Amino acid sequence: MCSVQGTGFPLPERDRLGLRGLVPPRVMDVDAQARKVYEDFQKRPTPLDKWLYLQALQDRNETLFYKVIIDHVEETAPIIYTPTVGEVCLQYSRLYRRARGMFFSVEDVGNMHAMCYNWPSDRVDVIVVTDGSRILGLGDLGVQGMGIPIGKLDLYVAGAGLHPSYVLPICLDVGTDNETLRNDPWYLGVPRPRLQGDAYIQAVDELVAALHSRWPNALLQFEDFSTDHALTLLERYRDGPLACFNDDIQGTASVVLGGVYGALAAQGMPNSAITQQKFLVCGAGSAGMGIASALCSAMQKHGLSREEALRQFCVMDIGGVIGQSRAHVDRAALPFASRDVPDGLHLEEAIEAFKPTALLGLSTVKGLFSEKALRMMSQLNARPLILPLSNPTSRSECTCEQAAVASEGRAIFACGSPFPDHVMPDGTVVRANQGNNFFVFPGVGLGAALCGAARVTDGMLIAAAEALPTLLTAADHAAARIYPRVSDIRRVSTAVACAVIRAAAAEGVVRNSEARRMLETGMDDTLLQRWIVSKMYTPAYVPLVQSHK
Ligand code: NAI
Repeated sequence: MCSVQGTGFPLPERDRLGLRGLVPPRVMDVDAQARKVYEDFQKRPTPLDKWLYLQALQDRNETLFYKVIIDHVEETAPIIYTPTVGEVCLQYSRLYRRARGMFFSVEDVGNMHAMCYNWPSDRVDVIVVTDGSRILGLGDLGVQGMGIPIGKLDLYVAGAGLHPSYVLPICLDVGTDNETLRNDPWYLGVPRPRLQGDAYIQAVDELVAALHSRWPNALLQFEDFSTDHALTLLERYRDGPLACFNDDIQGTASVVLGGVYGALAAQGMPNSAITQQKFLVCGAGSAGMGIASALCSAMQKHGLSREEALRQFCVMDIGGVIGQSRAHVDRAALPFASRDVPDGLHLEEAIEAFKPTALLGLSTVKGLFSEKALRMMSQLNARPLILPLSNPTSRSECTCEQAAVASEGRAIFACGSPFPDHVMPDGTVVRANQGNNFFVFPGVGLGAALCGAARVTDGMLIAAAEALPTLLTAADHAAARIYPRVSDIRRVSTAVACAVIRAAAAEGVVRNSEARRMLETGMDDTLLQRWIVSKMYTPAYVPLVQSHK
């Protein structure tokens, strides 16, 4: 008991709970404790040490943990999530100290419904599940991928105020094809090759059905599934039984669309100007095609027909431009096969032929955006939009400096990994915006949970993207800042949740009766946002003893 809030117990509680003498005399409120913890945190020498420190804190005092995360979110998010969580996943079996979340393995097939009742809470709002098959850029880490759902849900709590008791991290351990792990005597997963084909799908089906029967109103977020399964599973479950969402595909797409709107705003243009943009998308994997689809839907929303919108895209993969005669391409890329640009052209030839306004990198190829390609973009456009989105930094298609120099400071730049801003010799700063999914997923989860969304629709994700530039100021536009600040994440998530709820209502997927009643009163966004904020978790010690004054 004394460890729960330690020196935070006020005297009346120490008396009533029999804690007098069991904790040091000085009473420290949660703010003082948080300042002390933050000082200690800063002294830890490496990101992994910082993670271990925060992990131990979460285990003994969850309220204080979230207080510190929220108060210093810009500094702590990269520790509890990417990039540090990647290192944690690599060493997960050895770092393991205490169970968190739920594990369903290949040995549990047939028992998953019953197992869900082992979880102590009848209410779960958001579930994040991984099968560990494509953890960040680190490949198949099997059960060790569990660090990802845990870290992601910590960000849901910190960023959007989901209640920590109502989130559930899950690892579906269907084996691993990582032989090193299978041979590691301390590996904590089932040391067998991955389930494949129908057996794999049946295991996922059973898990989804079990989760639905126990928590029918939860939002299920798929995270870090291998590309081949990610799209299949999203298509399989997007219409139910649970509301589903894949952050790698849909969250990324939404955050990039929000950045494009931010870039238009920086040039004094409205969102509808997206219809005049021409996107050269380098990379036809799940990330590239998810983004292209979202941008295409947004163009349709602003008045283009699907045919017209598709013509605003040119998609490339490792074989060059995907034109009409390429037979073997991903099925998601097929609708984007160019009518106007010949097959197989390489980047610079494609820029010459297509004359894009924006260059998107989702190829995982470091340096793909050559100096010549960047110069060509700058000759074609007053403000070329350069988005090298591949992660990690070592895979980025170009750096901020390269885009800045080649465009003589005119590029609007956003990347997947953090880069420093670049200062030109004349003092112009080219901002290294970061298309961080953190701007979108917590708000989507909060909005969907609060309105009890039956599904997560494309309209809700476009609405989330549209909310992002509304948070930018004239000074942000002038500085080519195209995303809000991470330190403002709760305000961002509130605006995103508000937009998501409105879109859910417009599409008739709101199930929560309180939300329905609120929306029926015709309340404006200020009131709706006030309601959202009132539902957000804020870390504070709940008085355990009533004081009678
Ligand atoms: P993937 O491996 O499935 O797809 C890569 C694609 O790039 C393939 O279509 C491949 O043919 C193509 N490609 C390879 N070499 C090329 C070249 N020289 N020119 C043009 N295309 C080439 O990868 P996935 O899952 O689609 O992810 C791509 C990248 O996007 C990763 O680095 C990932 O980290 C990043 N990503 C970034 C996010 C963000 O910024 N928020 C979120 C999700 C992914």
